[in-house]
Amino acid sequence: MSQNKPHILIVGGAGYIGSHTNLYLNELGYQTTVLDNLVYGHQEFVLFGRFVQGDMGDPKVLDDLFQNNDFTAVMHFSAYAYVGESVTDPAKYYHNNLSKSITLLNKMAEYKVKNFIFSSTCATFGKPITDKVSEDHRQKPINPYGRTKLLLEMLQGDYENAYGMKFINLRYFNAAGADPQCRIGEDHNPETHLIPLILQVALGKREFISIFGSDYKTPDGTCIRDYIHILDLAQAHELALKSLLESGTSKNYNLGNGTGFSVLEVVEIARKVTGHPIPVRMEERRAGDPDMLVGDSQLALKDLLWKPQFADLETILTHAWNWHKKRHG
Ligand code: UFG
Repeated sequence: MSQNKPHILIVGGAGYIGSHTNLYLNELGYQTTVLDNLVYGHQEFVLFGRFVQGDMGDPKVLDDLFQNNDFTAVMHFSAYAYVGESVTDPAKYYHNNLSKSITLLNKMAEYKVKNFIFSSTCATFGKPITDKVSEDHRQKPINPYGRTKLLLEMLQGDYENAYGMKFINLRYFNAAGADPQCRIGEDHNPETHLIPLILQVALGKREFISIFGSDYKTPDGTCIRDYIHILDLAQAHELALKSLLESGTSKNYNLGNGTGFSVLEVVEIARKVTGHPIPVRMEERRAGDPDMLVGDSQLALKDLLWKPQFADLETILTHAWNWHKKRHG
């Protein structure tokens, strides 16, 4: 079957979202090559496909890959994503997320690889001015991380005009969960995300979970986010790829479940899933957090026929919990 399916270059395919997408594509019979410098990725998460250790900012690595393979598309997951660090060390973020990504795009243009699927983010929108954020919401990021992603979205029109390249930007809301078969999952170092930290409390690795701010304009005062299962994101990548190959039309899609959960609600569901009391400690707000970020994904549901399979937060937490017990328990 893989003979008939396209060969995809997955840049950053040893990271959290990239490794699950690589798994998903291979299970559908796609041929993949993963390029990852392993700064944050885990080689053991690349369960299928060919693995190449290297940096997307290294023209020699890219020459070698593009000269010796006929890639139908490139999926790009290789970004630094610590919002706080992007504020204190923006150079690191502009260098990796923007300038190295431009090296990748330039090599694609040189070798006439025309299709690019980009891991963008709801952080490109900044503070929402509507309850749910759709694709046409204004983009006004409030941190350098979001700006690096927006800048990469912005230059695409010029690359399309000049080089005939086509782009799909997938703007994720809060990626969460793990492979339902528990082969791979989330493992950041350092870990800053809410759900893995809550699960570390349940595993006895931390005493409590800090809640960053309880005076937000939300019903219980804690921030509301839209948690989307990692395999539902993977599914959207495959659908986006098919759509791009069939229609040849560049598009943006927001990927969320359209339902928000407060930090306290996430803790409550995690108590149910883990059977652990999960003590909380109220703390100051974290810089740069909007009150509420919930996605409007009507366009992906309609255009791509995207069908999230694991929208229920209890299911998302159950998969994450199974994985954390296996990896860290
Ligand atoms: N939070 C806590 N305590 C913690 C960790 C997080 O209360 O110990 C709160 C945060 O303040 C936020 C919510 O839990 O309100 C979720 O925080 P995460 O750090 O898990 O995720 P973010 O909402 O900050 O995610 C954002 C963007 C993503 C981006 C990501 C980068 O929504 O697009 O940062 O890591 F990719």
